[in-house]
Amino acid sequence: MKLFVKTKDKKYPIYFGVSSHINIKKILIKNDINPKKLMVVYDKNVPKNITNKFKHKLKEGENIFLGLNFSEKIKNLNTVKKILDILGKNNFNRNDSMICIGGGIAGDICAFAASIYKRGIKFVNIPTTLLSQVDSSVGGKTGINNFSGKNMIGTFCQPNVVITDITFLKSLPKREMICGYAEILKHALISDKKFFLFLKNNLKNILNLSPNITKKAIFKSCKIKKNIVEKDEREINLRKTLNYGHTFAHAFESTLGYTNRLNHGEAVLLGILVASKFSNNEGFLPKSELELIEGHIKELKYDNLKKYFNKKNVKTIANFMARDKKNYSKNINLILLKRVSKPLLNNTYPKIKIEKFLNTLINK
Ligand SMILES: NC(=O)c1ccc[n+]([C@@H]2O[C@H](COP(=O)([O-])OP(=O)(O)OC[C@H]3O[C@@H](n4cnc5c(N)ncnc54)[C@H](O)[C@@H]3O)[C@@H](O)[C@H]2O)c1
Repeated sequence: MKLFVKTKDKKYPIYFGVSSHINIKKILIKNDINPKKLMVVYDKNVPKNITNKFKHKLKEGENIFLGLNFSEKIKNLNTVKKILDILGKNNFNRNDSMICIGGGIAGDICAFAASIYKRGIKFVNIPTTLLSQVDSSVGGKTGINNFSGKNMIGTFCQPNVVITDITFLKSLPKREMICGYAEILKHALISDKKFFLFLKNNLKNILNLSPNITKKAIFKSCKIKKNIVEKDEREINLRKTLNYGHTFAHAFESTLGYTNRLNHGEAVLLGILVASKFSNNEGFLPKSELELIEGHIKELKYDNLKKYFNKKNVKTIANFMARDKKNYSKNINLILLKRVSKPLLNNTYPKIKIEKFLNTLINK
């Protein structure tokens, strides 16, 4: 199974398959990538039975391998510098390529490094988490964090190839499966009620990796994102809807200092919940649909903001929200829902209003 993403200056395939290492060289050659001059960067925390298979197949020519312990803490310029230095020392040029094997963190960092080295070398993403398979590997957003917040430095640069393999998910902890599921849920909420109802009926099947159901959810999720990215690659308008729940989520993560207590996907679930409640509070999302969303997030056990935050955190959360990349004034710009599948763009609110609302939820 394949999907093609077509943007203004690139068309690239996303391959969906199993045992993708077997065909890796064929895929590379087919997509005009020299399999003998590659920098393969992999997340050392990805089980060796996955990375070794690729390393074994790709051990030839001038290929070099770099394993790192990727985490939000090293999603920064130091890591990018390390990668750029290696590319430079090994005389990589624009015809050469980087391959990343890992989750969204590894993918975002490597894609960023590949996009700025000599103004861009070829990039192949092999996402190994559910989140990276359904979201971060599609659409060409690259990035790293800095002191002012998450993903504050980055580029728009589409990959040359994406290889998604459902078998990689067998070793993924349940908690990480839920994180990926958060982005699938977001895609359904902003564009397809039928898909949302499918997810509601199949939550357990997806989390337990029931092959056909999970494949369907991954494929559909990529297709929704592809359709949006093709219409608005640079996030002028429509693509902003992919940030549903994320203005809250990024502020939650930043407030807690990117700890393991609340990782990205979990913050997204809380963010979706709060954005949905706020949509209803503003007279948009009908109560019946809010209840459907709340019920679903409760099933996932991420419905309790108080578990992570108290009243003292509210100002910090709102301050981080005010620094969000989508804001072009002092006000906070939020994506809201009119109904499931009908997102609303560019709703701006004073910080104080958001603080008051958060205080009603974090009532301690
Ligand atoms: N570029 C985009 O459009 C975009 C979209 C959404 C999220 N993101 C970014 O993605 C990041 C989150 O990605 P993530 O959730 O994949 O996190 P991650 O990369 O940290 O992976 C989660 C954990 O799973 C481990 N892991 C990876 N593959 C595994 C496997 N097959 N089996 C067992 N363990 C495995 C990792 O080592 C890590 O500990 C955030 O930094 C977020 O900002 C980017």
